[in-house]
Amino acid sequence: MIAHHVKNAVEGQMLAATLFMQASNAKPDKPVGLATGGTMDGVYQQLVANSFKPGFKHAFALDEYDGISPGSKNSYLHELTEKFSKALDWSGQLHVPGQGLYAHEAGNQEFEEALADLGPLSVQLLGIGTNGHIAFNEPGSDFASRTRRVELHQETVSANSIYFDDPQSMPTHANTQGLATIAQADMLLLVVLGEHKQAALTKSIRHPDQSTPLAALLEHPKLVLVTDQEF
Ligand code: PGA
Repeated sequence: MIAHHVKNAVEGQMLAATLFMQASNAKPDKPVGLATGGTMDGVYQQLVANSFKPGFKHAFALDEYDGISPGSKNSYLHELTEKFSKALDWSGQLHVPGQGLYAHEAGNQEFEEALADLGPLSVQLLGIGTNGHIAFNEPGSDFASRTRRVELHQETVSANSIYFDDPQSMPTHANTQGLATIAQADMLLLVVLGEHKQAALTKSIRHPDQSTPLAALLEHPKLVLVTDQEF
């Protein structure tokens, strides 16, 4: 693992944006992997600030709430459409588990097949949850897991329900790339910013085991960490 220590969140988001641009520009015929959440919002804002013009034609999302309407403001398809595609004036194709082409029973298998056909990804953006989840691979997830429907942990439901107008309406399940799916990317760009992530990061790196999904990715040949935390 290559670790970049930064002073604060803004510096981290700027560095992550620069590394993402370099990695995707180096392989413009390959798709990229996108993530959602507060950390990535800032990374995408930095891409916009840099007037980034993507060369890639396809982007794969890590995960999506199960059964959520694509038009819901809480759907990750909506979030990526607004904060990535529209913000960068990018007209490529977003592939989101459980949405659009993949919104039916065999959808997760077809998502894997599309990724195999078009991939490997030049770079996959990753965050980590306060409980250590990677995408919606919660603690205890199989390291050999592929894209599938999962139940969300209570801590994830509590952390994310604040974004829903009616917190009770937050879905309890999601479709997520598996840990073995994520590991296929040529480069993993893990962005961990803020004190609230420090415990999860330290545990995942210092005491990796089945309860820390990041453990499945620590031996990846090109895992790049950007963090403002000690670990
Ligand atoms: P966050 O989410 O960037 O909103 O903290 C990251 C995650 O839960 O994986």
